[in-house]
Amino acid sequence: MKVPKLTIDNLNIEVRAGTTILEAAGLLGIEIPAMCFLSGCKPSTSCMLCVVKIIGKTGLVPACGMKVEDGMLVQTDTQEVAEARRAALELLLSDHIGDCLGPCQVTCPAGMNIPLMIRQIARGGLSGAIETIKKDIALPAVLGRICPAPCEKACRRRAYDQPVAVCLLKRYAADIDLASEQPYLPVCKPSSGMNVAIAGAGPAGLAAAYYLQRKGHQVTCFDENDRAGGMLRYGVDKKLLPETVLDKETSMIFGLGAIFKGDTKIGTDISVQELAVDFDAVFIATGPIQNDDPAWSSLEKGQEGIAINSGNYETSLKGVFAGGDCVGRRKLAVRAAAHGKEAAVSIDQYLSGKPVTGSEKTFNSRIGKLRDDEINNFLRNASDSPREVPARKYDGFEPEQAQREAQRCLDCDCRKPVDCKLRRYATEYGARQNRYKNERRLFTQKAQHPDVIYEPGKCIKCGLCIQIAAEAKERLGLTFIGRGFDVQVAVPFGRSISEGLKKAAAKCVQSCPTGALAFKNT
Ligand code: SF4
Ligand code: SF4
Ligand code: SF4
Ligand code: FES
Repeated sequence: MKVPKLTIDNLNIEVRAGTTILEAAGLLGIEIPAMCFLSGCKPSTSCMLCVVKIIGKTGLVPACGMKVEDGMLVQTDTQEVAEARRAALELLLSDHIGDCLGPCQVTCPAGMNIPLMIRQIARGGLSGAIETIKKDIALPAVLGRICPAPCEKACRRRAYDQPVAVCLLKRYAADIDLASEQPYLPVCKPSSGMNVAIAGAGPAGLAAAYYLQRKGHQVTCFDENDRAGGMLRYGVDKKLLPETVLDKETSMIFGLGAIFKGDTKIGTDISVQELAVDFDAVFIATGPIQNDDPAWSSLEKGQEGIAINSGNYETSLKGVFAGGDCVGRRKLAVRAAAHGKEAAVSIDQYLSGKPVTGSEKTFNSRIGKLRDDEINNFLRNASDSPREVPARKYDGFEPEQAQREAQRCLDCDCRKPVDCKLRRYATEYGARQNRYKNERRLFTQKAQHPDVIYEPGKCIKCGLCIQIAAEAKERLGLTFIGRGFDVQVAVPFGRSISEGLKKAAAKCVQSCPTGALAFKNT
């Protein structure tokens, strides 16, 4: 039999007859996005994300279902292909009901994975909880005492009784960690050989120091005071935030290798230009500035402080970044800390010679306002107890209180925000959720299985789970029920997912391209 020779994106290849375009492209190292296709399963060609152009043919074809032909000229990366893929994603999203992130996480200025932290506390896994917290918040015991908790204002539980006490739960995990023999220290990358000066050791500067040290850069923090903390030390009631807590958490950052140089005022003891010459990058986080202060004369100003590119924190001086209160009005400490964290991403990109684009903006599906019958889905799996209150003002939770409070969380987030292909490709192709307006269906959840949760509103009807369950010879397995718009994956005879998936649950979860089938405790 003749071996087909074809060209994909100007690269020539010979493959076995019967090979699909998707497979041939893979052999050339060309990734074609695919959602409904899984190697070893029969293609359903339902998502149409893998479309490509074949020169000489009208329209586009799905690469997962189309076999190669001798002499084919394939293009995978044209404007027409990108637009068709975006439209395919937008169609899927028009009928998609789910929150990639919990409303609390979307609102947290630091973007902390609050639902995961709460699940970890509920399960007694405090080491996991502190790791989750410290991924996004450098000073959680500090912020757990002073943050006015915008996340709690967005908490879904508020619509039912009172918001989950997110801030006290974070403080609980952080306090236990700080009091332990070996408080959590994140792993730092090997030294990059790069040096960064940070002007100001308040919430923004300390957060930037924490993330830059983790990236392997050597940080030196300059501050006009003799101790680190900035407004956290000098602008907060000590009953609310005892100095011992601040000292312990700031010393952890310096324990990662950051150097502190106190009693050093920018403009008097050292200038911005000198820092820019002596260091590979500079981050200014001094707190509010006067625009006419000569210390900042080398930088362009905006209405309220140093002018920055709000997407990446760059100032008008190359290699000099700024964030926190020196670039605008007074902020919550958590917002200033979020500036420090985000600026660290840009500074790391700058030091690595990459384009300085700042933090990636990831696609987020949102359900929006829930109807009463929908919130009941969430309430069904949560404790009915009222919000816990610490015994005395300024106290934190006792262990039993923290456990009880954590059980109140409604687990609003999707359990596959990282692995979900729909989210990943929606980000990559800039897909919008509301391009095609559809009447929204009801959000439902099937959580009877001990390990697996099924949320039909996130299903793209690829049928992979049905095939996998059949191959595993599940007695009941899964099937499509209903017609047209209302078609759904379900266990036959109205039985539960635990009855349908006795052997193949884990494989179905791993193969499901979205968060429709997911493990509960992730
Ligand atoms: S299934 Fe994907 S797109 Fe949908 S909510 Fe989950 S992570 Fe977001
Ligand atoms: S109930 Fe839990 S997951 Fe939902 S918004 Fe509140 S804290 Fe976040
Ligand atoms: S639940 Fe099944 S049919 Fe739906 S997206 Fe996941 S694997 Fe595909
Ligand atoms: S149609 Fe090819 S991956 Fe979905």
